[in-house]
Amino acid sequence: MTEALTPQERFRLRRSLLSVPAINARALEKSRTLPTDGVIFDLEDSVAESAKQLARDSLKQFAEGHDRPDQQWIIRINGTDTPHHAADLALVRQLQPDAVLLPKAESVEALTQLRDRIGSRSELWAMIETPKAVLKAAALAEAAEDCGLTCFVVGLNDLRKETRIPADPKRRTLLPLLMQVVLAARAYGLDVIDSVSNDFRDLEAFQAECTEGRAMGFDGKMLIHPSQIEAANRAFAPSAEDLAEARAIIAAFSTPEAAALNVINHNGRMIERLHAEAAERLLKTFSRTTNQDEPQ
Ligand code: COA
Ligand code: MG
Repeated sequence: MTEALTPQERFRLRRSLLSVPAINARALEKSRTLPTDGVIFDLEDSVAESAKQLARDSLKQFAEGHDRPDQQWIIRINGTDTPHHAADLALVRQLQPDAVLLPKAESVEALTQLRDRIGSRSELWAMIETPKAVLKAAALAEAAEDCGLTCFVVGLNDLRKETRIPADPKRRTLLPLLMQVVLAARAYGLDVIDSVSNDFRDLEAFQAECTEGRAMGFDGKMLIHPSQIEAANRAFAPSAEDLAEARAIIAAFSTPEAAALNVINHNGRMIERLHAEAAERLLKTFSRTTNQDEPQ
């Protein structure tokens, strides 16, 4: 086991983001005890229209009744065009979560307006879960600096409904859409989180989906059930071997002989300085977490 992560180290990790319906007091309590990097308190899709105020009250009572655990706290609010938006924003300003997640984000204007309203203590995140949002992901990401946007979260349940792409466990027809979102995020320096997976009892399929998400370049996964946390934490962290290799690459470029070289022979493989930069980023993010060591 590694030493426990400091809050700053843990804060950078976005391997596992567990959605918790704000109406569910038992799940709220449980979320504090779980090794998830972040908790998304949901005021939107998982809360019935008639229960929105109850959900806000429940979340307020929970958040004000406890010290914050070593987890990122994100609040998913209702959309700008709903009757619940203003009251959700008032709660956001009181609770000052680490991030506010806007569902069905589609326009730079909506994001910019929201930025001004949520207070400077919270990051702004956007759900990409409509056809328009996928098509406009690059434009939204390009405006990220102006509107303080730092992270995309893909939502496949809504996207499947809107595109009428049938549910397919392998997600084959969705892969080009997912890659567009990853590319847009990376082009402008945003983090990007893969969609929830509904079948929380089939952990084998879930593990495969996490592995696929990592291979596509996602930083982590939005989750719906505690049973999914461990697999996401494992899939979205490097192995001990990955970290050792990163250190070896940096060491290889640190020798006096390599000082004037941009490419070197590293155990029979060409490595460039860009590989050393990628290795540094990996170590900075995951210096004390491997996929064998769960953070405490
Ligand atoms: N966060 C925290 N705890 C959760 C949880 C969650 N998202 N989902 C389940 N749990 C807890 C349950 O409260 C239960 O705790 P207990 O043992 O102390 O009673 C335990 O985990 C086992 O739960 P289980 O019986 O397997 O599931 P369930 O029938 O209680 O809940 C769902 C199943 C799908 C309704 C529930 O997981 C859920 O609401 N997930 C989030 C849905 C969501 O946020 N959707 C919107 C985003 S797409
Ligand atoms: Mg939705």
